[in-house]
Amino acid sequence: MKNIEILISEMTLEEKAALCTGATAWTTTPITRLEIPRIQVADGPHGIRKVVKSESLGLETLEATCFPTASCLASSWNLDLLYEMGQALAEEAIALDVDIVLGPGVNMKRIPTCGRNFEYYSEDPFLAGEMAASFINGVQKMGVGTSLKHFAANNQETLRMTIDAMVDERSLHEIYLSAFEIAVKKAQPWTVMCAYNRLNDVYGSENLYLMTEILKNQWGFEGFVVSDWSAVHNRVKSLQAGLDLEMPGPRERRVQEVIDAVRSGQLDEPVLDEAVHRILRIAFKSASTIKGKKFDNAAHHALARKIAGEGIVLLKNNGILPLKNVTNIAVIGRSAREAHFQGGGSSHINPTKVDVPLEELEKLAGNALITYCEGYPADDCTQSDMITRAVEAAQAAEVALLYIALPTYKEAEGYDRTDLDLTDQQVRLIQSVTIAQPNTVVILNNGSAVTMNSWIEGVAAVLEGWMMGQAGGGAIADVLFGHVNPSGKLAETFPLQLSDTPAFINFPGEQGIVRYGEGMFIGYRYYDTRHQSVLFPFGHGKSYTTFSFSNPSVSQRTFRDIDGVTISVDVTNTGNMLGKEVVQVYVHDQISSLMRPSKELKGFAKVELQPGETKTVSIHLDFRAFAFYHPGYRQWITESGDFDLLVGSSSAEIHIVEKVTLNSTLELPCILDSRSSINDWIQDPHGKVVFESIYKKIIESPRSNEILTYLMDLPLIEVLDLPGVSDDTYPQSILEKLLKQVRD
Ligand code: BGC
Repeated sequence: MKNIEILISEMTLEEKAALCTGATAWTTTPITRLEIPRIQVADGPHGIRKVVKSESLGLETLEATCFPTASCLASSWNLDLLYEMGQALAEEAIALDVDIVLGPGVNMKRIPTCGRNFEYYSEDPFLAGEMAASFINGVQKMGVGTSLKHFAANNQETLRMTIDAMVDERSLHEIYLSAFEIAVKKAQPWTVMCAYNRLNDVYGSENLYLMTEILKNQWGFEGFVVSDWSAVHNRVKSLQAGLDLEMPGPRERRVQEVIDAVRSGQLDEPVLDEAVHRILRIAFKSASTIKGKKFDNAAHHALARKIAGEGIVLLKNNGILPLKNVTNIAVIGRSAREAHFQGGGSSHINPTKVDVPLEELEKLAGNALITYCEGYPADDCTQSDMITRAVEAAQAAEVALLYIALPTYKEAEGYDRTDLDLTDQQVRLIQSVTIAQPNTVVILNNGSAVTMNSWIEGVAAVLEGWMMGQAGGGAIADVLFGHVNPSGKLAETFPLQLSDTPAFINFPGEQGIVRYGEGMFIGYRYYDTRHQSVLFPFGHGKSYTTFSFSNPSVSQRTFRDIDGVTISVDVTNTGNMLGKEVVQVYVHDQISSLMRPSKELKGFAKVELQPGETKTVSIHLDFRAFAFYHPGYRQWITESGDFDLLVGSSSAEIHIVEKVTLNSTLELPCILDSRSSINDWIQDPHGKVVFESIYKKIIESPRSNEILTYLMDLPLIEVLDLPGVSDDTYPQSILEKLLKQVRD
C-alpha cells in the first residue's frame, strides 16, 4: 500500500471528487489506475443485508443470520455477548464480501412510539453507548468496519428526512450525543452515518458543529462520515461541514458540483483532500481483510438463540413459570406459527432459517398434548370466531400460552406508532382467554413498549420476547421450560399509558419542527424525578431464582473526580436455580447548581451465580459518572459535594445506598454575564474587583438589608430593566445608579 499522502498527490481532482460519492447503491468508487479498492457496505445492524445487485436499493438480498434486534440485545445487559455477536456478524460479512456493516444505531428511545425503536438500544445513553462499543469492538476486531448511526437526534420516523429537532445544548450532550461519544471513544467505529433530520435548523449532512467540531475535533473520530442514504442536500456544503462520503451513488451531478466548486474557489481543495484521506484509510484497511471464508450457519443460529434467551425479559410471573409437569397446553396466537422476529425496513434480513415457536415448544414439551389456535388474523380485523375457538382450547388445557406479536403495520422503519396498544382483537383475545384459563402466559413480540393495563391483572405471567431474531422461537421455549433462566432487564421504561410519556406533548412536532421540551428528562430520568408510576420500570426483569445484595464498600469515601471511585457489593443467588443478575449502579447528586435527574445509570455488570453462590462485583465510576454538561462553560463539569451511589436490580429496586464525597479538581472561572446575579459577581474574585467598592457602600448604607434582599439575587439583566437603570451596560455604573436611587 502506498503512503496515503503520496497517493492523494497523485490523484486528479476528478478522481478525488468521485471517491467521495458512491459508485453504486452499496459501493464506493474504485480507482483502478492507483489500485484504490472499492468499499462494499451492507445494512445491519442485527444481520448482514447484502443486496444482490449493488445497483439497486433492492429487495433481493443474500441469506444471513438474523440476530435479535437492538431492543432485545440491550435487554441482555451483557457486553460480552454483544462482542461475540459482533464477531459472528463480521464472519458473515467476510463470507459475503462486505467491508462495512451499517450499524449499530444508538439513537435514544425518546418516546416508545418511534417506529424504529426496535433498531435502537435504550432510553439511557450510558447503556446504549456501552452496548454499541462492545458490538463495534467485536465486529472490528475481525477486520470488518461498522457505521455508528444516525448522528444525531434522529428520534422519530415522522417527516424523518426533514424534521427539525430543536434540542437545547445540555440535553443534546447529556442525552442525545453521549451514546455516540462513548462508542466513538471506546471503539472507534470505521464510519459514522449522519442523520436525515435537522438539528436546531441544520441538516445532519450539513452540520459542522456535529461532524467536525464535536465528532472529529473533540472526540477524536478517525474514520469517515457517510451520509444516510440520500440525506445530502448540498454536496459542497456537506463536505465543508465534514461529511466525507455521500451515499448512495452514482451521482454524476454531485461529483461535478464538487469539481466545479474546487475550480471556482468555492471549496478549498484541502477540505476535499481531508475527506479523501479518511476514506482511503478505511478502504485500505478493509481491503486487507481476506474475504470469502464461509461462516458456520448452525453455530450462528445457536448463538442467535443464546442471545435471544438473554434478552427476553420476564416481566411478570406468579410462579407458573417455568412450566413443570404440564400435560395439556393450549398454544394460541398466530405468532406461534409465524414468528415475528425482526422489523420492517432497511434492517430486514433474509434469514438462513427461522425457528417456528410452536415447533420449538413441541420439541421441549415431552409428551404434553399441544393444541394450537390462530387467535388473531394478520390484519386488524376483528374475528370473534377465532376468539371463541381459543377460549375453548384454553379451557380444555392446563395452561394457555398466548403468543402475541405487534403487527408490522403498527411498527416499522418509515413511520411512527400512534398508540402503544396491541390490536383490539389481541386485547379481546387475552381478556377472554384469561377469564377462561387463569394459567395464561402472554409472550410478546414487539420492538418497544406496549400498554397492558386492560389485561395484565388477569394473566399469570408475561414474557417480553422482543423482535427476537431467527432463533427466537427456540429461545422462548427454552425460557418457558426453564432450560434458560431469564436474565433480561428492560433497557426502556414501559409506561402505564402513552400520555404519561415525557415527550408526549411534543411529538411528533408541528410545522416541521419538534421541540424536545422535556430536555434531559427522557425515560426513567423523567418518571423517577416526578415520582410517576409506570407499568414496568427501566432495568426491571424477573428471574426464576432470587438474589440478595450485601457487604457494600467503596474504595474511598472522599475522592477526586479525576480518580473516580469504585463501589463493590456481594451478590448471592439465594434461590435454587442457576441464574444471572444485573447489578445496576445509579448516581444521585445531592446538591447541584443546575437541575439534574434524580438518578442516572453510570455502571452495571452481569454476573452468573450457582444456587447459594456469592460473588463480589466491583464497578468503577469515573469523572463522567458524576459530571454534567454545563452549557455556560460548554463542557462537562463536576462540582464538589456529596453523592449517593445507588445499587439496585432495577431503577426502582435499589438495595444499597452508599454516600461519597467528590472533590472537584476543576478550577472554573465564574461565568459572569448579564444572566449572573449581582451576588455571583461579588462572589467571584474577578467580579468582586468590579463591585467591591460599590458593595461596601451598599453594606454601609442604612438601607443595606433592603438593597441586598431585593437586588443581590437578581440577574443583572433584570436589574438593567429596572426603571431608571436602563441603557447602561457597565455594571459598576449600574450599581452606582441603583445606590443613588436607594439613597434618594
Ligand atoms: C436508513 C439507514 C440505512 C440506509 C441504507 C436509510 O434509509 O435510515 O439506517 O442504513 O437507509 O439502507
